[in-house]
This record gives sequence, structure tokens and C-alpha cells, in this order.
Amino acid sequence: MELTTAMKNRRSIRTYKEGKTVDKSTVEALIQAAQLAPSWKNSQTARYYAILSPEKIQEVAEQALPEFNRNNCKNAGALIVTTFVKNRAGFDREGNPDNELGNEWGAYDLGLANQNLLLKATELGLGTLVMGIRDAQVLRTALNIPDDQIVVSVISVGEADVDPEMPKRKDVDAIVTFF
Ligand SMILES: Cc1cc2nc3c(=O)[nH]c(=O)nc-3n(C[C@H](O)[C@H](O)[C@H](O)COP(=O)(O)O)c2cc1C
Repeated sequence: MELTTAMKNRRSIRTYKEGKTVDKSTVEALIQAAQLAPSWKNSQTARYYAILSPEKIQEVAEQALPEFNRNNCKNAGALIVTTFVKNRAGFDREGNPDNELGNEWGAYDLGLANQNLLLKATELGLGTLVMGIRDAQVLRTALNIPDDQIVVSVISVGEADVDPEMPKRKDVDAIVTFF
């Protein structure tokens, strides 16, 4: 799929077809795409926890997502919890922050990687939803996520049962300043 087409076609999907699984090789392809993204000093601090079993998906959704997001990802074939290893991206070898943003650079890198993941899913004909409203501590416990990682988002992946319009975007001149 042409890149611009994938960027335009990707939508947040909040209704998935029932009974459709997502297999391990598909998730591996998504994460391989994520791995092509740039990262601070090539530090590659993004980490992924892929939940494919329907029982575990239900357990994690019930415990870690508020009701509206639980409904949003109902019937998704996979939940991918995304984290990053803290104190590396944006930090020097001695562990000092290179500038005022500190661990925000890790979140920046994870976002770059995750957009690749979303676009790859689009190319494969799969719908996705990034969920930032989730309980990080519950996810950490349920998935044994180590303390040196910061839990960021949950991404649902599945077969879309809707074809939403693109929410309106601001015009370019409203967000750019030229000199
Ligand atoms: C960091 C981030 C967190 C988000 N969290 C949620 C969420 O918790 N629940 C939800 O329904 N949508 C969530 N969204 C989806 C946005 O609402 C959506 O991307 C936006 O409305 C634009 O729509 P589009 O993705 O179809 O272009 C999130 C998106 C991002 C990038």
C-alpha cells in the first residue's frame, strides 16, 4: 500500500468483528515495522507485550481498561501493551538527562515506533486503536512488566466492523510558523 494512502486510511477503530483472531506472525510483522522507526542514539527502548489469547485479553481488558475503552476494543484479536525502557533515550552514558525532556524522549521514540505499527496494520487490512486511558499499575502486575520500563499505551488490533470518517484535522497554516 502506498504510504500516503495508509496514512489517510488509518482510523481509530472502536468496533471489531466478532470471532476474528490475530496470529503471532501478524503481530511480529507489526513489531518488525515498529522497529524500523528512528530512535534516540538508536537506543531502541520500545517494548511490546502482545496478548493473543481471548481469555487473557478479556482478563486484561476487565482489569486495566475503563468501561468505555473495554467496549471500544471488544472482539479485538490482540491487545498490544507498549512500554519503553526508562533513563536511556534522552540520557547520556552516565545516566544523566541530555536535556530538559528526560524520559519524554523515550515516549517520543515509542510514538514514532507505534505509528509504524499502526500503518503496517493498515496495510495488512487490520484496524487499531491506541488507548492512553488505562491503568498502568494493573498492566505492570498482570504482564510482569519490569520496573525499569514505563508503561504507555494499549493498542487493540483486529478486523474493523466500521469504516469511520476521518475526524477533522487542523489546516496546515494553523499549526506551522515559517521564517
Ligand atoms: C496517545 C493517544 C491516546 C489515545 N487514547 C485513546 C483512548 O484511551 N480511547 C480512545 O477511544 N481513543 C484514544 N485515542 C484515539 C484518538 O482519539 C484518535 O486518534 C483521534 O480522535 C483521531 O482519530 P483517528 O485516529 O481516527 O485519526 C488515543 C490516541 C492517541 C494518539
